[in-house]
Amino acid sequence: MHSGICFKGLPAVFDPRRRPWVIAENASTKEITAQINKCPSGALSYYMNAEENNNIKIEAETIAEVSTNGPLLVYGNIKIKHSDGREEIKNKVTAFCRCGQSSNKPYCDGTHRKVGFEG
Ligand code: FES
Repeated sequence: MHSGICFKGLPAVFDPRRRPWVIAENASTKEITAQINKCPSGALSYYMNAEENNNIKIEAETIAEVSTNGPLLVYGNIKIKHSDGREEIKNKVTAFCRCGQSSNKPYCDGTHRKVGFEG
């Protein structure tokens, strides 16, 4: 699912119409990492240089966010236990279907837009 959250939240850095479409110098490290952490698809990622890593506090909490008319977004490291016994480890952001129409349950596949899900 491509949400465009990076473009909407920090357009000086992320602009898919521009080449290069990412200009990291246009915002602080804190602003950029905060924006990337909101990416529901996990398409964006980053790593910290060792020197900068010493100044960053890593939050170990898991956050669940209900997106308007869209999936449940879970930020953080989680283990998913499927009904057939399989287990998966997910990190960063995992989008769970709330509309019931996804072909990839329990995950969102973007179908909520096609069916006009409201909630
Ligand atoms: S919420 Fe996205 S497909 Fe159901």
